[in-house]
Amino acid sequence: MDLIYCDQAATSFPKPPQVVEAVCRALTETSASGGRSAHRMSLTAARLIFEAREAVADLLGAEDSSRIAFTYNVTQALNMVLLGLLKPGDHVLTSSMEHNSVMRPLGWLAQERKVAVEVVPSPATGLLDPAEFKKRLTDKTRLAVINHASNVTGAISPLNELKTAMGQTPLLVDAAQTAGALPLNVKNGPADILAFTGHKSMLGPTGTGGVWISPDINVEPLFRGGTGSRSEIEEHPDFMPDRLEAGTQNTHGLAGLAAGVKFILATKVEKIRDHELLLTRRFLNGLTNIKGVTVYGPSDADSRVAVVSINLLGWSPSDLAHVLDREFGIMTRAGLHCAPRAHRTIKTFPQGTVRFSFGFFNTDAEIDAILSALDELSRRAE
Ligand code: ALA
Repeated sequence: MDLIYCDQAATSFPKPPQVVEAVCRALTETSASGGRSAHRMSLTAARLIFEAREAVADLLGAEDSSRIAFTYNVTQALNMVLLGLLKPGDHVLTSSMEHNSVMRPLGWLAQERKVAVEVVPSPATGLLDPAEFKKRLTDKTRLAVINHASNVTGAISPLNELKTAMGQTPLLVDAAQTAGALPLNVKNGPADILAFTGHKSMLGPTGTGGVWISPDINVEPLFRGGTGSRSEIEEHPDFMPDRLEAGTQNTHGLAGLAAGVKFILATKVEKIRDHELLLTRRFLNGLTNIKGVTVYGPSDADSRVAVVSINLLGWSPSDLAHVLDREFGIMTRAGLHCAPRAHRTIKTFPQGTVRFSFGFFNTDAEIDAILSALDELSRRAE
């Protein structure tokens, strides 16, 4: 049985061969702590980390790569920013389509730090309305935090309109589903802070992620410790990126991330987007011919990343995902996708949906095989 991986929104597979080679090379040749010692291997490790930072800066359109701090995933980056910025009495706006990586730290901040968290409800389409944000702004609003695209429906958020609506209030963008999949330009774009993960569309290994922070914003560190800089003082350095990077970095992972991002830069994000758009369009069109399918989120492919959540009449999401995997070799993610409030919003709580998510290495033939499997299973349910 040919296997079809369409769980790219959880993590991307396969990785380009250059990523595998870069991780292996780093593990075999460069297992030193970068920026700590002065010997050649430590210098090579430091260079690898610098190359990763520069490559990510290119991808994000950032002028100064030192404004990028690496973390181990986007969850850590989001926690770092939310806990490092929000103080008692602050007001923060978010949408009802956010992942638990935003909702859980905000819930903790509301309870423990008395931050006023306001969740702006989206309609059942999952598409947020910037006007709803604007009318909730107060003189205490410190931040708005929004996903660039939903990990449940794939819907792309209207970030430019949202930024206009928010005025001077900083916008923290959760780009977990878009960095590497959609063109980004933080220099001219709406984000004041952008959190990303390395292992999804950036094609790197797990254990990599980070955050770009605009030069006029200072985030209090979540962790303090060794940085290899200012070792003569016991205070944690206040300059970026050391301010937000304590402890030895994931050098091997970052070597892989650099290779993934260089692959994207050489291929061009626009070409990756075009391919994923064609796959999504083919899938959405094909679904219209299958009886009993409900598709969630925008009906047109252009308004979403390559993420499509569905339900099939007569099947629970978990049974459908199980049979797709066992009988057809099709790997999806079923359930609530760590975003229960998003599922309440689109009215699929508590059972959730089956989510198909595609990447640059998925093919038309795979989409057709998935459609044919769903067609067969729709008849089986009759
Ligand atoms: N956040 C990831 C997902 O949506 C893991 O599946």
